[in-house]
Order: sequence, then C-alpha cells, then structure tokens
Amino acid sequence: MKITYFGHSCLKIETNQKTLIVDPFISGNPKASAIDINTIKADYILITHAHQDHVLDVETIAKNNDSIIISNHEIVTYYEQKGFRGHGMNHGGSNDFSFGRLKAVNAIHSSSFANGVNGGNPFGYVIEANNKTVYLAGDTALTMDMKLIPMFFKLDLAVLPIGGNYTMDVGEATVAADFVECNRVLGVHYDTFPPIEIKKEKAIEFFKERDKTLILLDIGENVTV
Ligand code: NI
Ligand code: MN
Repeated sequence: MKITYFGHSCLKIETNQKTLIVDPFISGNPKASAIDINTIKADYILITHAHQDHVLDVETIAKNNDSIIISNHEIVTYYEQKGFRGHGMNHGGSNDFSFGRLKAVNAIHSSSFANGVNGGNPFGYVIEANNKTVYLAGDTALTMDMKLIPMFFKLDLAVLPIGGNYTMDVGEATVAADFVECNRVLGVHYDTFPPIEIKKEKAIEFFKERDKTLILLDIGENVTV
C-alpha cells in the first residue's frame, strides 16, 4: 500500500492496481496549491464525514474519474442524488471492494455538510489490502472504542488526527496508538488552519519518547506499508 499525503487529511492510497482518494480537500488548502485536482486519478473516493475540509473536491474528482464514493449512508445518498456512484456503509459493517476489504468503525465527531444537510455520523475505517492493514481514524476524539480494533486487526499503520481543537491532539494520539496497538502513526489534520497548528519537531519527539514513530509527510510525499 502506497500512501501519498495531499495535505490536511487528504491521502492517495494505491494498492492492488486501484487508487483511493481519502477526504479530498485540496483546492481550498493554500498549502496544497501545487496539486492540480484535475490530474488526480481515483477509482474510489473514501469519505470519513461531510465537513467541508473533507469533501470540498469530491465532486470534481468523482466527475473526472467516474469514481465510486464510499461513505456512510447519508453522505452516499447525498451524492447519488446528484448523479454520482456510491457505496453506503454504516458503523461496524465491512465490505470487499476491488482494492481490498474495508470496515467502517466509530469516530467521535460530527458530520454536517456546509449547506446544512445531514451528513450522518462520522466514520473511521480499517483497510485491509495486500496483506497490510491500515486504520484511518478520521476526525475523532480519543475514544475507548479504539480498543476494539486490535481485537480484530493487527495494524501496520494508524493514520491519526493530531492537531487538536476539532480532534484529539498529539498527546492523545499517543494514547490512541496504544489503544489500537500500533506504534507507527501517520499524523494528519494539523497545521492547515491556525487552531490546529502544532510544533512538528516536538510532536515527533513526544512520540519517540514513548517508543512510537510519528510520520509527518510534506505534501506530495509518500510512505509505503
Ligand atoms: Ni470534521
Ligand atoms: Mn476536519
């Protein structure tokens, strides 16, 4: 699984000859201005929740690629009514896709669209593909539900929000890493806006002191699991 960082919480995941785009928010992110969304390929678009900083570029990318939009029932219905292709799920459900297997797990957050439409309840996901397993926490608080994940999965990477204010912060993310039993963490949802700015070197050191690795990618950089 090759995971490329497109800024904020947006990732490109390539596995089994398929490309997934997670939570596309690029055209509204000045830090990601080097990325042209019209060049992005996506067989699937994976959405954790309906907030603008996770769905802004869904329609452009889906239109360009005829992508299948995967999310909760409400978000998928919203896009299906606009003519897009989708696959709705709900908490605790799993499904096999052409890229691998996906499970929708709990996230403690909210999920309205910018226009006020109900975006259902927020998801995290566990992706299993090519014998690798990755947890995408989505926007979430630290929650005891994370302890369910290692009862069923042996994770190779946990993608956790670390910016605070809207989600858990760096300190809580180290506890989340313990809860999901994965010491290799890719940090997301930081530095995009003033309320979620972090001190990157301090964050990396904080993880290191707890025998964990915090990976912070520059926009366009990738990590392979
Ligand atoms: Ni959010
Ligand atoms: Mn967010």
